[in-house]
Amino acid sequence: MSKGHLLPLCVKEDLKQVEDELTRVVSSKEGKLAEAALTTLKAGGKRLRPILVLLAGMINLYDASKLIHAAVAVELVHTASLIHDDVLDGADTRRGSPTINAAWNKKTAVSAGDYLFGIAFEILSKLDNPYLMKVMSEAVLALSVGELHQMRTRYSLNQTMDDYLAKIKSKTAVLFSTACLIGATLSEAKKVEIEALGRYGENLGMAFQIYDDVLDISGDKKVLGKPIGIDLKDGMVTMPVFLALKETPQRAYLQNVVENVNLTEEEIKKAIEIIEATSAIKETKRRAKGFVEKALGAIELIENDDVRGSLCSIGEFVIDRYH
Ligand code: IPE
Ligand code: IPE
Ligand code: MG
Ligand code: MG
Repeated sequence: MSKGHLLPLCVKEDLKQVEDELTRVVSSKEGKLAEAALTTLKAGGKRLRPILVLLAGMINLYDASKLIHAAVAVELVHTASLIHDDVLDGADTRRGSPTINAAWNKKTAVSAGDYLFGIAFEILSKLDNPYLMKVMSEAVLALSVGELHQMRTRYSLNQTMDDYLAKIKSKTAVLFSTACLIGATLSEAKKVEIEALGRYGENLGMAFQIYDDVLDISGDKKVLGKPIGIDLKDGMVTMPVFLALKETPQRAYLQNVVENVNLTEEEIKKAIEIIEATSAIKETKRRAKGFVEKALGAIELIENDDVRGSLCSIGEFVIDRYH
């Protein structure tokens, strides 16, 4: 995350250990899967979810020896989901580097994702806490349900804003919430605090995905490290598209873009121009901000000022970022 200076010193320090541990565990096996998975891992990434694990882990007792492993497990699940997501989305660039499906092939990407899921659960199981296994299993299940729901509703206008919100909750917000729940649980925080952190994570995750969907339209590929316009190409009806469809005089064109399975680059470009000519991007950002406000509302009861301050900064970052 670019606003690293807003993080407490122990989190900054322990993030370095998370990084070393990520490299160590992924390269612990030899062969193509480890090599491919390591490429995605080392290509970068904001490490937002490990940061959430460590910060939530500061609420009460801070046990770095457990939190670092939990943070590694969460980042591995996230990276595995990205590797699989790039197969589903047909994406060729991730974190500024070629995706595994582009550089190797789809089969290698599917197996490399599975390899990371396996390592993540192996690490988590060593923490010997059934609750952690439960929430992480639920997160992985939600992820796959969300991605499947998204696949099923591609190229279709027969869906509502609530469908969209349900999808992004499953595929993104649940893992954010899980990162917070795991950290707070390891910190032996009070039940109300653990629940508050869970609500913070969920709402932050909603805002994060909504903003990611904005960046797919108005972002810069170089800064983002992934292609733009890919959601339109894949027939995804994201929040900006929903809102633009309501407002634009060129509704028929935009509808056709959503339903067309074989779009040209020109058509995608024109669709982006149509969306940008409406108030959809501004309104989408406003709604993302609404989720951040809900997230911040949830943590008002957190007494640790350092933790609350950092969680607020992450909220600001999520709705004011370029990558
Ligand atoms: C990308 O997540 C997937 C979404 C949930 C939108 P990030 O934007 O956190 O990806 P990295 O880890 O920084 O590459
Ligand atoms: C998020 O959706 C993917 C996962 C939660 C796995 P996107 O498809 O929008 O993510 P990006 O844009 O490829 O990073
Ligand atoms: Mg994608
Ligand atoms: Mg996206």
